[in-house]
Order: sequence, then C-alpha cells, then structure tokens
Amino acid sequence: MHHQPLRIAIFGAGSIGCYLGGRLLSAGADVIMIGRPRLRDVFKQHPLVITDYHGFRFQSQLTEPQYSISAEAANGADLVLVTVKSAATAEAGEQLAPWLRAGTPVISLQNGISNADTLKAALPEATVLAGMVPFNVLQQHPGHFHQGTEGHLMAEHHPGLEPVLPWFEKAGLPLELRTDIKAVMWSKLLLNLNNPINALSGLPLLDELSQRDFRRCLALAQQETLDILKAAGIPTVKLTGLPMGLIPPLMRSPDWLFTRLARKMLMIDPVARSSMWEDLEAGRPTEIDWINGEVVKLATSLNLKAPVNQQLVTLVHACEKRPATWRAPALLSALKNA
Ligand SMILES: NC(=O)c1ccc[n+]([C@@H]2O[C@H](COP(=O)([O-])OP(=O)(O)OC[C@H]3O[C@@H](n4cnc5c(N)ncnc54)[C@H](OP(=O)(O)O)[C@@H]3O)[C@@H](O)[C@H]2O)c1
Repeated sequence: MHHQPLRIAIFGAGSIGCYLGGRLLSAGADVIMIGRPRLRDVFKQHPLVITDYHGFRFQSQLTEPQYSISAEAANGADLVLVTVKSAATAEAGEQLAPWLRAGTPVISLQNGISNADTLKAALPEATVLAGMVPFNVLQQHPGHFHQGTEGHLMAEHHPGLEPVLPWFEKAGLPLELRTDIKAVMWSKLLLNLNNPINALSGLPLLDELSQRDFRRCLALAQQETLDILKAAGIPTVKLTGLPMGLIPPLMRSPDWLFTRLARKMLMIDPVARSSMWEDLEAGRPTEIDWINGEVVKLATSLNLKAPVNQQLVTLVHACEKRPATWRAPALLSALKNA
C-alpha cells in the first residue's frame, strides 16, 4: 500500500464521478472532483453521501478544493478518471491536456466504445485506458448518490495501474484489469441496449423488465448486435451470470420463466433507472449515438444494416426533441416493422 495518499482527479463528477469519488475518499485517497458550478453549490449546502444497495453508507462534507469547477485542479494527479457523458469527451480531453504529466494514467469510465480513443487523440502524452462501470448510480437527493445494481469496475490492463489497485480494493471498488477490454466494452454495450428501452418506457428498470414486450424489444436489439459482432469477429464476455448469446432468449421468455431464471438480474433497487431516462427527463441530449449508434456504425462498416438499433436511435432523438413515453406493445411493433 502507498504511504502517500494517491491523488486521484475525477473529471466530470456527476453521478458516476461523485459516487466513485466518495468511495475513494472513504478509503483515504486524496480525491479531487471536477464538475459544474451546480454541484459545487449543492456541496456548499449538503454533504456528499454515498450509499449502495448492500447498505453501505459514507458521508463527507467536501472542502472547497475537493469539488472544483476548473480542470487545473487535475494538475499533478497520479490518476485521472473521466466520467463525463460521451458527448463531452472531446472537450474533457482538451481541458485536461495542459495539466497532466506525461504518462499519467487516464481511465475513461464511460459507456460506449469510442470514448478512450477520443481521449487519446486529445491526450497523446497520457496513458489513456478504456474502463467499464457495470453498475447503476442515481442521484437520489441533492449530493446523495446511490448504487442500485451490482458489479465491479474493469479497465484495460496496464502495468501503470498496479499501484492504484489497493486503493480501489480498500474503497470497496475492486478494479479488474483486462487484456480483452474491447470484448468487455462491447459486452457492456449489449447490456446498455436496455437504456433506450428503459428511457422510452418512462418506468423504473424493475417495472420495465417485468414486461415481456419490453424484454422482447431488448432481445431484438441485442440479437441484431450479436449477429453484427459475429460478422465483425468481435467476441463477447460473460458480465452477468449468463453468456451474452443466451441473454436474448432469456429476455424473450414468458414472465413466469423469466422471473425464475433472472432472479439475480431482478434483484435491483425498485427505484433504479437508466441514466438515459435521467437525460430525457432533464431535457439533455442522450448518449444514444454512443450506444445503439455504435452498432449502426459497425454494421455500416461491414456493409450490413442494423434496422432495430437504427430505429431506437431515431426514437430516442425524437424524444429528446419532444418528450414521450412508449407502451411495450407499441414499441415492439415499431422495432419489428423497422
Ligand atoms: N449513471 C449511471 O448509472 C452509469 C452507469 C454506468 C456507466 N455510466 C456512464 O458513465 C458516464 C457518466 O455518466 P453519469 O451518469 O455520471 O453522467 P452525469 O451525471 O451527467 O455526470 C457527468 C458530469 O460531468 C459534467 N461535465 C461535462 N463536461 C464537463 C466539463 N467540461 N467540465 C466539468 N464538468 C463537466 C456534467 O455537467 P453537465 O451535465 O452540466 O454537462 C455532469 O455533471 C457516461 O458515459 C455513462 O454512460 C453511467
């Protein structure tokens, strides 16, 4: 274990960034969160509170430098975690560039496939690595971030990350280093294909996944993606109890069978929702182009089509302009007819 606390800068401290920041603070790490004035003002009034579905709770009254609105606060960091939404990645890289020492490990803990590459282009001197957050975090009250689902962090294998591993372990956030991160990222994307369906349903994840027609929508998007990944020669890995190829048949199964087979998957907080739902709710642009849009992009590069994923991209963009919710049978028929 390090004697000096590790200095960790978290760039784009919203739901994931504040949650990870709080966890690492609980381990005694020297954490700087960089975000917006909105949250900085929240932390002037409220402590940072971190909870999870196991009953973990940590709270800390942040000092002013601990939540900064300037990228300069990343100066001298030993490790940078980037947790902005995908549309903000290029700007995050540009803002961080003047402040990082050559070789500083920077982990993109974002969904999608291309964020680490976007950061690499802006931070050619840093060691940019792709990473993956499997669980869901929602801001339940101002300054209170709650982990509603299970899983552990993963990042691309690199020897520069070895010294930071004990800090993540101590924070209750074990970080698994992987040599097959591309397969991990695509496998996470397969699970994230539920984000647009959850967002369009307007329901908590548990209510949405309890409706077979919504699960059939998800199965359509996942099967289409699995077929395209196979054509591209990209493997998948098991991130839940099941190999990825068995998830679409599980999703299509009738409620009585699904509730038995997917008991673990359904052990989610009844209030948990996807962050894409949060974005639509707040009138912000979503990450749809970095989720389903990546499938369409990969299909196009292979001269294939991805009509179901393309339709989900179109429907979510429509909801960004004009909020709407979809009932399960109507969404299923919109995807089948795509
Ligand atoms: N939330 C989840 O459950 C979850 C789970 C797994 C993975 N993820 C992934 O993790 C990433 C982050 O998601 P999130 O839910 O944590 O998003 P979020 O709550 O929107 O947090 C990102 C924060 O970064 C801020 N930001 C953007 N550009 C900035 C800049 N240049 N300087 C300072 N702050 C900036 C944003 O402010 P503005 O909104 O004002 O731009 C926002 O507060 C996404 O890729 C998401 O898909 C999320």
